Amino acid sequence: MKEMIQNLVDALNLSPDNVPLRLQVANLMMNEKMYAEAADQLSEVLKRSYGHTSAQQQLAECFYHLGKYSAAIITYEQLDFEQLPVQSAAFFIRSLIKEHSIEQAIELYRHLLMQHPQFSDEEIDRELRLGSSTDTGDDDFMMDDSSFFLEKPTTKFSDVGGMKNVKNEISLKIIQPLKNPDLYKAFGKKAGGGILLYGPPGCGKTFIAKATAGEIDAKFISIGLHDILDMWIGNSEKNLHQVFEVARANKPCVLFFDEVDALGSSRSDLKQSAMRHVINQFLAELDGVDADNEGILILAATNAPWSVDGAFRRPGRFDRIIFVAPPDEEARVDILQQLLKDKPVGEMDVKKIAAQSEGYSGADFNAVIDIAIEDKLTQSIETGELQPLTTKDILRALKVHKPTTQEWFSSARNYALYANESGLYDDILKYLKIKR
Ligand SMILES: Nc1ncnc2c1ncn2[C@@H]1O[C@H](COP(=O)(O)OP(=O)(O)OP(=O)(O)O)[C@@H](O)[C@H]1O
Ligand SMILES: [Mg+2]
Repeated sequence: MKEMIQNLVDALNLSPDNVPLRLQVANLMMNEKMYAEAADQLSEVLKRSYGHTSAQQQLAECFYHLGKYSAAIITYEQLDFEQLPVQSAAFFIRSLIKEHSIEQAIELYRHLLMQHPQFSDEEIDRELRLGSSTDTGDDDFMMDDSSFFLEKPTTKFSDVGGMKNVKNEISLKIIQPLKNPDLYKAFGKKAGGGILLYGPPGCGKTFIAKATAGEIDAKFISIGLHDILDMWIGNSEKNLHQVFEVARANKPCVLFFDEVDALGSSRSDLKQSAMRHVINQFLAELDGVDADNEGILILAATNAPWSVDGAFRRPGRFDRIIFVAPPDEEARVDILQQLLKDKPVGEMDVKKIAAQSEGYSGADFNAVIDIAIEDKLTQSIETGELQPLTTKDILRALKVHKPTTQEWFSSARNYALYANESGLYDDILKYLKIKR
């Protein structure tokens, strides 16, 4: 083979402008892993035939194999990503990873998954933390819904403080059917349908959704609908379909839709009619009309359940609506223990703190502990000694950071009182101790 290549190179020296021949030679060289030589030939092609797409693509590939990642990136960037063959796209993404351009890598990876839901690449998955997320819940970065598209959380139900009812419901309604499909069938129970979580901010809706995936060792796809709709105007239906396809290709999988109120029917703006199409597409996907949703657990969350289109609540869709209340005293003890478990702690009476923190959410406790830690850091620096957190520090921080859940109830209360069809919001009234 090497000999044949040499003969062809000799021929090229006689007719240097023979582009097809040069491409042929470059191809053979690449097959023989002679990437440096192939790169030279491809550069010659590009000198003569500027912007030659497949030459550029192959040149980039050579750069990749030669470990010249930034050259590979620059070359790939001149090409239309959507037109790249999957393998080239993967080389591109790997080059970005090697050059530590993680954000861009993730962005392109999302794109690639949209086009090819079946695509999987161990190295890319590993580097972009798909499949190895080590989220323990106290890491804001990892909780940012927009940072990761597809991940494999390790957070379990046991990492979530309180929320007993919610855990039970999720277990009964979607985890058990997944684990014992035959049993459910025998009783004539159709698996499928999702759970809609609603409630004030910071009380663990997103957190429990992710923990559901961790609990059953499933993948997790989180979709922030507000962002997605804005980003996808015009293309939303197709993309929504792709999201479901990605989930179907990655079973078992928890598919989590955040801010479903974005799909409200009560929107009166210009997006209205476009929105109708998206809603219909969403409903079709939920119903699994053309596809099989078995193995996909569907969860959604909202602060404004009253804005969610009623069609979503029909049987087989989001037919369980669960109120995620601010934690009660017992749950607050549990959450505080969770949040403090990896921190340097001295004398700490979580019961006492829990008794004095009515209305505080998990997110509020994160903020409170942050404030206390900052104080402790300052003290530690001053004294030159590590000062552990104590009860007093947390109680003091409670005075600085006020609970953020109460504001939500001032509007929720009105819906619960005056728009409470079929007792949908009875749980809100119960929480507020209002009798009907
Ligand atoms: N029950 C809980 N146990 C432990 N930590 C919690 C709990 N609830 C909330 N937290 C902490 O608070 C953070 C915020 O919670 P989360 O994002 O799940 O709230 P949310 O209900 O989704 O709020 P939003 O309505 O604003 O989206 C979590 O990342 C977690 O660190
Ligand atoms: Mg959330």
